[in-house]
Amino acid sequence: MDKIVILTGAGISAESGLGTFRDEGGVWTKYDLSEVATPEGFARDPAKVHDFYNARRKNAVGASPNAAHVAIARLQAKYAGEVILVTQNVDSLHEAAGAEAIHMHGRLDRAICAACNARWDAPPEMFATDACRVCGKTATRPDIVWFGEVPKALHVIGDHLESADLFAAIGTSGQVYPAAGFVAEAKRAGARTVEINLERSDVASLFDEHRIGPASETVPAWVDMLLR
Ligand code: OAD
Repeated sequence: MDKIVILTGAGISAESGLGTFRDEGGVWTKYDLSEVATPEGFARDPAKVHDFYNARRKNAVGASPNAAHVAIARLQAKYAGEVILVTQNVDSLHEAAGAEAIHMHGRLDRAICAACNARWDAPPEMFATDACRVCGKTATRPDIVWFGEVPKALHVIGDHLESADLFAAIGTSGQVYPAAGFVAEAKRAGARTVEINLERSDVASLFDEHRIGPASETVPAWVDMLLR
């Protein structure tokens, strides 16, 4: 296997204490997605959206990478071929473990100005009244991709999927596109596909192989197998 492309989702950070979205008690069972994760929701009530992301940022800052994040970093460092990591997660636990990830849904620890596109490290709390450090407009927001917006780096990710020999989806329910379509893209390109998840997801039948269990156990075991 020359090239491995890994897609991670909220399930990989669950054992670090960060909630998933669609499991029992998940984020979208407590919050209305259309109010806090869409451009329309932000236009209606920016303070509410900032409150939501300020709370999530606070949780993320207090969290540590778990054995699954550490194992992926080890794979990136030690594997003889290429290991491309794409994450839907907005936390920075992959980086904290020493890995390099493409954040297709953005990052909680980054801020962006919607008026001039300037980006900077997000402060612990952001407010609707914050002015952009570059253009001065009060158009600052978390550098997060909301529903209805185009995820980041899709062309780069598409190129990697085209040349993948192995594609792994870890801790993701496969319900949000375009990420949910990556398995089909990789398969078309001839890659073997593996789903590593707490349970078989709704899109499990699209994968060649399944490794079921908590990511902190399944991912290190999978990485050990690849490095053997
Ligand atoms: P979901 O909450 O939809 O799915 C999480 C998946 O992780 C589920 O299939 C769980 O079974 C699995 N899981 C839970 N705990 C696990 C564990 N300890 N080990 C392994 N797997 C575990 O989260 P995502 O698929 O990441 O987007 O959601 C995708 C996108 O939807 C997110 O990036 C976010 C969300 O709305 C935006 O906000 C734009």
